[in-house]
Amino acid sequence: MQIQSPKGTRDMLPKESYLWQWIESVMREEAALAGYREIRTPVFEYTELFERGVGDTTDIVQKEMYTFQDKGERSITLKPEGTAGAVRALIEHKLYAEPLPVKMYYLNNPIFRYENPQHGRVREHHQFGMECFGVKGPTADAEVILSVLRILERLGLENLQVHINSIGCPVCRPAYHAALRDYLGARLADLCPQCQERFERNPLRVLDCKERGCQVIAAGAPNILTHLCEECDTHFQSLQTLLNARGLCIKIDPHIVRGLDYYTKTVFEIIMQSPRGPIALCGGGRYDGLVREIGGPDMPGVGFGIGTERILLELGNQGIAPEAPNVSDVFVASLGEEGRLPAFELGMSLRREGFSADFDHMERSLKAQFRYADKQGVRVMVIVGGEELSRGMVIIKNMASGEEIEAPLGQAASGIKQQLIK
Ligand code: HAM
Repeated sequence: MQIQSPKGTRDMLPKESYLWQWIESVMREEAALAGYREIRTPVFEYTELFERGVGDTTDIVQKEMYTFQDKGERSITLKPEGTAGAVRALIEHKLYAEPLPVKMYYLNNPIFRYENPQHGRVREHHQFGMECFGVKGPTADAEVILSVLRILERLGLENLQVHINSIGCPVCRPAYHAALRDYLGARLADLCPQCQERFERNPLRVLDCKERGCQVIAAGAPNILTHLCEECDTHFQSLQTLLNARGLCIKIDPHIVRGLDYYTKTVFEIIMQSPRGPIALCGGGRYDGLVREIGGPDMPGVGFGIGTERILLELGNQGIAPEAPNVSDVFVASLGEEGRLPAFELGMSLRREGFSADFDHMERSLKAQFRYADKQGVRVMVIVGGEELSRGMVIIKNMASGEEIEAPLGQAASGIKQQLIK
């Protein structure tokens, strides 16, 4: 039987790589404009990092991690998200001792979650994320939100809703949990089986359940925003002031709670409308206790992660498809056996001069070489062989205008350059 890629994974094919590279270049540029530098951490980490970081009551840790024992009998987990690895590296390399804030981004980090593959949900996805450490105030929250929005805007995506909420801190959350448990406890039998479990482990998660019955119950639940302590409330109000100052239209959504345990204060999602209902394009928030939880100093953090597969989905939904670039600018065609070696040599020397140039590997006829070159989007064709070659000349043809000129083989580059700028 033919071997296929594992369920929930997808190949990125050469013909679509330009889209990924385009998205990556916009991400890199925006991150650099905001003073973030790239970090790359291993694809796998010790399992304990995610149990402690992401939280052992979350769906991710309980059900979705790719965990295995390595040959040294250590428990290893493929990264189910990007933040914990970045925090581990921050602590291990004492980056927290550098001038603050410490700003880092990761680009197309492979992320693995054993989920039921469906529209916009795969088992290996790729995340771009920005993480800012050391800032207590809301300017950092605003910075990361505005950076990801700018990226989406530059990609041409419109009509995205930014939902924000505050889920409080260890000072105010216990009282809210108690109020929520009281409310949900009286309606336990009407919750879906998964939320009945969540009620025990993490009642906040009931608020973002997608089941209709649970949503009706969640709509009447106590509002977390009226339970915030003064510090959390001031932080949330100031964040709104900063975002409003940039003209941003945000939706305050007390049902955004996020599926990871590390969040404190700000949480946010950017929502896209998919044919099967709204899904998050981007998610993030503040995690002021995470660095300490993983063994580092008391240092606040805030950031987001955005999945490239979902960006591609949304580009498709909004009908945005940038034109694919051509594969090569120049094709050096050979005519007859005697043209092969000089065509090969010319192709190679053009590359050294910085032209994207190809030549015939397949021993095709001249006509077939033209057909092939046309499919590659070649702009200038050079024909090496025949009577011209015996005079030391080549033909340079501009594929768009059809114009043909002759040039000495040794000076073909300048003729090609002229044709390329036409
Ligand atoms: P998350 O919301 O779990 O947050 O994931 C962030 C983004 O990754 C989602 O908004 C979505 O675009 C994408 N994503 C998640 N799961 C899948 C999936 N199964 N298939 C396709 N795309 C997916 C985090 O991971 C946090 N670490 C974000 C963060 C960074 N918070 C603070 N800093």
